[in-house]
Amino acid sequence: MHVADTNGTGGWDAALKKADAFLAELSLEEKAYMITGTTGPCAGNIAPIPRLNFTGLCLQDGPLAIRQAVYASVFPAGLSTAASWDRDLMYQRGLFMGEEFRGKGAHVILGPVAGPLGRSPYGGRNWEGFSPDPYLTGVGMEQTVTGMQAAGVQACSKHYIGNEQETQRNPSVSVENKTIEAVSSNVDDQTMHELYLWPFANAVHAGTASIMCSYNRINGSYGCQNSKTLNGLLKEELGFQGYVMSDWSATHSGVPAIAAGLDMNMPGGIAFTSPSPSYFGDNITTAVNNGSLPIARVDDMIRRIMTPYYHLSQDSSYPPIDSSGVPLNFFPKPSWVHEFPLGPTTDVRAAHASLIRTLGAAGIVLLKNTNGTLPLKQPTNLAVLGNAAADFTAGEYTLSLTAGIAAGNYETGTLPVGGGSGTGRFSYVVPPLDAIKARVASYAPRGLVQYITNNTILSSPTGLGTLAPPPEICVLFLKSWAAESEDRVSLLAEWNSTAVVEAVAAQCPNTVVVLTGAAPNVLPWAGNPNVTAVLAAHMPGQEIGNSIADVLFGDVNPSGRLPYTIALKEDDYARNIVNSTELLETEDADAWQADFTEGELIDYREFDKEGKKVAFEFGLGLSYTTFALSDLEISKVAEGVVALTPSAAGPVIPGGNAELWMTLFSVEVEVANTGKVAGAAVPQLYLSFPAEAGEVRPVRVLRGFEKVQLGVGETKKVAFQLMRRDVSYWSVVEQTWRIPGEGVQVAVGWSSRDLVCNGTITA
Ligand code: NOJ
Repeated sequence: MHVADTNGTGGWDAALKKADAFLAELSLEEKAYMITGTTGPCAGNIAPIPRLNFTGLCLQDGPLAIRQAVYASVFPAGLSTAASWDRDLMYQRGLFMGEEFRGKGAHVILGPVAGPLGRSPYGGRNWEGFSPDPYLTGVGMEQTVTGMQAAGVQACSKHYIGNEQETQRNPSVSVENKTIEAVSSNVDDQTMHELYLWPFANAVHAGTASIMCSYNRINGSYGCQNSKTLNGLLKEELGFQGYVMSDWSATHSGVPAIAAGLDMNMPGGIAFTSPSPSYFGDNITTAVNNGSLPIARVDDMIRRIMTPYYHLSQDSSYPPIDSSGVPLNFFPKPSWVHEFPLGPTTDVRAAHASLIRTLGAAGIVLLKNTNGTLPLKQPTNLAVLGNAAADFTAGEYTLSLTAGIAAGNYETGTLPVGGGSGTGRFSYVVPPLDAIKARVASYAPRGLVQYITNNTILSSPTGLGTLAPPPEICVLFLKSWAAESEDRVSLLAEWNSTAVVEAVAAQCPNTVVVLTGAAPNVLPWAGNPNVTAVLAAHMPGQEIGNSIADVLFGDVNPSGRLPYTIALKEDDYARNIVNSTELLETEDADAWQADFTEGELIDYREFDKEGKKVAFEFGLGLSYTTFALSDLEISKVAEGVVALTPSAAGPVIPGGNAELWMTLFSVEVEVANTGKVAGAAVPQLYLSFPAEAGEVRPVRVLRGFEKVQLGVGETKKVAFQLMRRDVSYWSVVEQTWRIPGEGVQVAVGWSSRDLVCNGTITA
């Protein structure tokens, strides 16, 4: 059984020694339960061993909040975080989330998310992650993991890998009672490296303690039993030192999964609700005793689990597991066999609301702003419209727990985040309507806020008839639901949005549309002249109303940029979800095949390659000020001639060959604020790689961005540091990263289609 063993590289050697000492004390039975989950107070649990003062491990969802908790914050989703293009805010969010999980006694955060990456705009969980661009997602992963672990909590980067659709993510049972296997994501080597693996490399580079293998199959083998992706790519090529845990019930065997690189089975039993029967558990003891599982492999699994635990000092003064989370356990009540020491209820929210509000606003993208509509100038008669404007009506948690829109169970109410295991339990929410009322009450003369939140009324041609006097401006809130377990069926905002926008705009010639929830959406009404401004507000979390009001009223100059493309119409996107009536009724166990034949050409890479017009391109976002870019200069940071490929003997650090992470070139530009208010610019650097015969390369790919705050008239120099990985492509033939000999074109601009300065990089 050949599996890359952990060796403590990346600064984990001292912790590895402690893990070894712990391991030396364990009996075989105890070893078996260090790698097998059990029932307990958390979403995932490793049993305590009181004899060794080990209080167990508590694993909690998820990527934007500690879900199974009261008195905790609901942060902006990954989608909003990506739209901020702000590295510092990404880190801050990770750090504050880490502090909240730690305060609740959770050792492991089941997040952040880099899979789905967003191959399909219909992906039900795209919003949990960052962006369909791997570079932007890579930065999101790196900053989030670093922030979370700076708080002393283990990050679990998920779902590895190719988990790009919810439909048939798990096996199903056919009419004839046959097991129909989960969808297989069939991905070629180059696409794997340059697209889907890329952000996971950042997570490993940042020292992620764990990686969650995914439900789907990859090239025919289950995510948690795929030796190529786990042993090969993750542990050998990327030098991952932590542990691979299964998604919940994504384990389909014992010894074969372990041989393929799986280190921890969650939640432990084959079913969600009981620790036995299990593929692991007592079967581990049996397998070791009968010689089918080498004990050395089990020992490495435990080293991988315990090294990050010691590295993050979780063995000393770690807060006890918050007992208030127990009744919230979403798996049927724990009748746990092992005693977990529980602590009191703690309020972990601290002053995090302020960061949540700031980041929520930073993730809002201004798409259209005609006639200087925004920022609002203290209107005295404003209408707030739409079923996404007001407070929750079905309760704060019902909203996000289950099928939401699909179940038709909440027509009226704000949509601050998506649903499923990646949602949060709100301790409060500020709905947009409340935030706008408060704002309008804050200035003189004190204005009028009229409102209608029923979309049926609003879709009527005379729906605004009861508003008097007619409002100067209408702010219309739309929403799009998305959740785990279901893919989106439409990219139109829900609840009859097209008719609502057209009817409102026909009656109110100054209509501002605010999109909330999942993205991308298509906006068939975007060209309507009465729709004077459009904001994509995404999923800002608990301060949603304040974040949006801050941008509407100009306290915050919008600086969000699209982390995805908005097409002109739905059909312009490759749908990229495998689903059909035939498949849903199949008796062929292997019928679900998702061939990623588009390779790297997803999102803007797809539209650019096809030369297709789009409504709003990747990277776009307007501001209340204007910026200028000039003076691009390229300098070589590395001395002398740069070798085209990293040295094969280069040491492997977490993240891969160490040379990949070395800065080779620096690209500088000057950025100026040429407008009348202070604001933040987001200059973006794109590279174009020459294609050799028979190769398909994207027209351009993002390889740098910075968020730059600029006062009126201010100019700053911005430097993009390009690492070897950034200027290389994956050579399938050489099985390594290679810098093209002919040079790489550099362009810096304001979006993927608004490029201002150019240059060339040669090795
Ligand atoms: C399944 C989800 O895919 C995963 O993201 C989550 O962490 C686990 N359930 C536990 O709730």
